[in-house]
Amino acid sequence: MKNSTKKITIAIDGPAASGKSTTARRVAQKLGYLYIDSGAMYRAVTLLALRKGIDVHDAAAVARIAREADIRFRSDGAPGQTVIYLNGEEVSREIRTPDIDRNISPVAANPQVREILVRKQQELGRHGGVVMDGRDIGTVVFPQAELKVFMQASAEERARRRQKELAQKGIEVPLEQILQEIRRRDWEDMNRTHGPLKKAPDALELDTTHLTIEEQVEQIVKWARERIDP
Ligand code: DC
Repeated sequence: MKNSTKKITIAIDGPAASGKSTTARRVAQKLGYLYIDSGAMYRAVTLLALRKGIDVHDAAAVARIAREADIRFRSDGAPGQTVIYLNGEEVSREIRTPDIDRNISPVAANPQVREILVRKQQELGRHGGVVMDGRDIGTVVFPQAELKVFMQASAEERARRRQKELAQKGIEVPLEQILQEIRRRDWEDMNRTHGPLKKAPDALELDTTHLTIEEQVEQIVKWARERIDP
């Protein structure tokens, strides 16, 4: 196989609202790769638990629904344009609400849920040519990824971005409340025993506090091209 057709695996990790999803999606579009939002999978399990009236702290019950859930990503044909389906229903909007944000931490800390979802993620990315974003992609899901990026931004900047994103969906939330929620989730993400948010030693750091989405995308695509065709 020629180097120029080599398909690599790109792992993008970072804290909540650091711009990972938008950036990862656009990187996938530019490279013609598959985009997988691993956080969407934890969100889908949380949504299912809430809909079924299952207590998110009931580890065994949540693990059972995670095992049974049919979570798929479908592409409308354009690379990067993947949307998530839960048991046959498109749930892209339903999984991104403050209610899900409030209830997701015990689901993400559940070791059985992580084991089930990590396996699904590895399966989805087994052929390479994938951009996956999350918290543990470079450390646990694809420790062999050819390119690992760890995105950072100040909590204040991330809160401003999340507020704007919610406002575009008609959800108005005070900045201070979003900031508190982000700080709480940072703490939970970094301090859980299984799959904590952590920079892989060989990940390249990208502080996006003062970068536009386009600049972030360009930087990652540049790093990717250096690895696809050295
Ligand atoms: O990236 P996000 O905000 O959509 O992620 C939602 C939650 O899912 C986040 O609070 C932590 C969890 N998560 C995780 O534990 N591991 C991942 N690989 C991705 C997300």
